[in-house]
Amino acid sequence: MKFSSVSASLIAAASLLAGTNATPLMTRDVFVPPITYPHAGTVWTVGQKHNVTWDTSDAPVNITNGHGFIMLRKNGLTTPVVLGNNFDILLGRIEVKVPWVVDGSDYQLVLFGDSGNFSPKFTIKGSGLAF
Ligand SMILES: *[C@@H]1O[C@H](CO)[C@@H](O)[C@H](O)[C@H]1NC(C)=O
Ligand SMILES: *[C@@H]1O[C@H](CO)[C@@H](O)[C@H](O)[C@H]1NC(C)=O
Repeated sequence: MKFSSVSASLIAAASLLAGTNATPLMTRDVFVPPITYPHAGTVWTVGQKHNVTWDTSDAPVNITNGHGFIMLRKNGLTTPVVLGNNFDILLGRIEVKVPWVVDGSDYQLVLFGDSGNFSPKFTIKGSGLAF
């Protein structure tokens, strides 16, 4: 999800109306870092290891919940599959092992810190099974 670009557009629109330079409208107390890998077009094979990465550049000084975890989504629904847990959300990356799941091009990750953020849809293959 592109929350950051949405809020940037809103701030830009608000600035145009007010006729001022862009300034943040509110201080963020919730940290929802955008996932930078996997991205659209990424193909993972079951059993491989990959570094999931996310952008920590706009982290607030005080993070309410610094413990991250990552879950797998398929077809727009969050599955019970946990890919990583109890890591520092400020690390910006965590190595995960691609789980043994059916082939599909509609997988996403959800990175949870204070709140959840979705990756774009990407592909997992290698099981030889598809729904
Ligand atoms: C993930 O990143 C770490 C640190 O850069 C590196 O040591 C590790 O080999 C990477 N893992 C993969 C699967 O690329
Ligand atoms: C962060 O938390 C510390 C300790 O509670 C506090 O002193 C400081 O003012 C807070 N900073 C911000 C930007 O909220």
